[in-house]
Amino acid sequence: MPELPSYFRVCQDKAALSHAVAKEIVRIVEETLQERDYVSIAMAGGSTPKLLYTLLASDEYSSSIAWERLLVFWGDERYVALDHEKSNFKMTKEALLDKVPLLPDHIFPTPTSPTNPHDAAETYAVTLKEQLRRCDGRIDIVLLGMGDDGHTASLFPGSPALNEQERMVIAAPAPVDPKQRITLTYPILNSARTVFFLVSGENKAPALDCVVGNPSSVTVCPSSAVKPKDGTMIWWVDEAAAHRFTKETV
Ligand code: 6PG
Repeated sequence: MPELPSYFRVCQDKAALSHAVAKEIVRIVEETLQERDYVSIAMAGGSTPKLLYTLLASDEYSSSIAWERLLVFWGDERYVALDHEKSNFKMTKEALLDKVPLLPDHIFPTPTSPTNPHDAAETYAVTLKEQLRRCDGRIDIVLLGMGDDGHTASLFPGSPALNEQERMVIAAPAPVDPKQRITLTYPILNSARTVFFLVSGENKAPALDCVVGNPSSVTVCPSSAVKPKDGTMIWWVDEAAAHRFTKETV
């Protein structure tokens, strides 16, 4: 069986993966705050990160994080009301935001109320640009998931969003409901200081194959084009997702 690249960490299961990422987030936040007043983090949507967010809010980790110095963004959002059942903001709010002492004006949900999603994307890009001045213009931690089809954030196979090399945020189509999305693009994702992918479940194994085996196939596997230029990227995967590869479990 093929080997996984060095930037992969294989964990026994989703719980072990979530604990490992929680510990790393605590470490990075502590280290960054020794140099700067604020830390920025872009949250992933979907279902995989829910356990991580719950852990970060738990007694085991919450007291180790200086929540009042975190700036919170989202890597992508479904273009629905922020209280809609499919909203990534709602998921994060319930699992984490409502349980920790983040400052309300440090939480930057993607605007989903403007009538035009392109206006919403432009507005979010302005917010990011303004707020990231407090983090030397880059997101410190970007959390990402990967779909069975290899998409990440709302960068889906064949999407016109894959070609965006200027704007940091764009309105993009999705093949599944909600079909209108707002997503960060490769330029801002690849300027991050740290990118953590969280990938769990056997259903992700084929896409992981594609990421490892055909790294140049952006249109087929958009996740493979996330490569921070001057940062660290770790793929946190569980054994089920990585079962086609040999790599010792961390
Ligand atoms: C979204 C996410 C998306 C997600 C993947 C994986 O808005 O749906 O940002 O990119 O990370 O689809 O989702 P699961 O974690 O639910 O498998």
